[in-house]
Amino acid sequence: MGRPWLLLSVTSAAALLGGQLAFVGSATAVPDLVADRPSAAPAYPADSLRALGARTGLKIGTAVNMDQLGSNEKYTQITAEQFSSVTAENVMKWAEVEAVRGTYTWEKADQMVAFAKKNKQLVRGHTLLWHNQLPAWLSSDGYTTTLSNDEVKAVLKKHVFAQLRHFKGDVWQWDVVNEAFDDNGQPRETIWYKAWGGTGYIADVFRWAHQADPKALLFYNDYNLEFTGPKSNAVYELVKSLKAQRVPIHGVGFQGHLSTQYGYPDLQSNLERFAALGQKVALTEVDVRTFTQADAVNTPVNPLASYAQESYWSRSLKACLAVRACISFTPWGFGDSYSWVPGWFDDPQEGAALIYDEQLNPKSQYYVLQQDLALAAGAPRR
Ligand code: XIL
Repeated sequence: MGRPWLLLSVTSAAALLGGQLAFVGSATAVPDLVADRPSAAPAYPADSLRALGARTGLKIGTAVNMDQLGSNEKYTQITAEQFSSVTAENVMKWAEVEAVRGTYTWEKADQMVAFAKKNKQLVRGHTLLWHNQLPAWLSSDGYTTTLSNDEVKAVLKKHVFAQLRHFKGDVWQWDVVNEAFDDNGQPRETIWYKAWGGTGYIADVFRWAHQADPKALLFYNDYNLEFTGPKSNAVYELVKSLKAQRVPIHGVGFQGHLSTQYGYPDLQSNLERFAALGQKVALTEVDVRTFTQADAVNTPVNPLASYAQESYWSRSLKACLAVRACISFTPWGFGDSYSWVPGWFDDPQEGAALIYDEQLNPKSQYYVLQQDLALAAGAPRR
């Protein structure tokens, strides 16, 4: 895959040089393309997103579907070759790890962590506290529970310590708190909010997480932070106030679920203002959906839609590249067949949101990212 000039792999470079592998790694014989690479050739192509991202130190991630990893050969190979960071799309969520109260099931999450180690990838932990995908014994909707406020507090503390300790040392960034504000910038009145009588739970959870795994980077993660507005402003004020209270928060995750039906957000200025608070920032769940056909959910209604999608992908990656504090760029999966979008945004139908098609072939959106990374030599190293 790739543009012909990007296809120069270590082996083909050696072939060009008369088949003498000894020349590979010599700065004069093989310029630029392999200059950053260690002498032992890694198991991924020089034109992969991960290899190209490494030139600026930017990790390129993906959400991982554990029903495919290991069993679907093509899916597994792409995950290993293209990405330098992985996020569990579902298997680290509370409903998955503690479906039965007091009984932890870490198997699938452990398998993903083992895969990441084997393939020299970093792990984004997703997510410790959210109002969705909670176990039934705790809450069916995130807003109501049969437990008392004191019990809610106790189970949350237990959960944070159990999960952080289980993965201690294995997780690079944790999404500690996910989606605590609504689009009007009001705190969601979840079971956590109710138990604490306000947003005080956020500071407590970050403090517990830091105690349990002092080396992990701790993130607040949300959608629509890309756009300046009441929600982004509310999270900005939250981070400022957490910093003032010396709460250990290290980063803000911009989910980046974009749609061509809305204008492109002022993402870079939002990344910059959070970075100016001393935070790392990251694009954590990027997808760019468009209107699609009801009976072919990944076929755009407008045949020119992919141009708008390419533009959104490119601009969001370049916004991250331009901001030194932006340490990872993570699409929310990579194959349109496995995307959450068609099932979630279906009235009207949207889809075609990822960079590989339903057959796991790279789309034009993939090549745009590849080219942007290849041309990013002037971006600040991180
Ligand atoms: C989604 C998953 O992709 C789906 O498989 C699941 O059914 C629902 O959750 N914001 C988040 C992610 O933080 O955890 C969500 O993932 C997408 C929105």
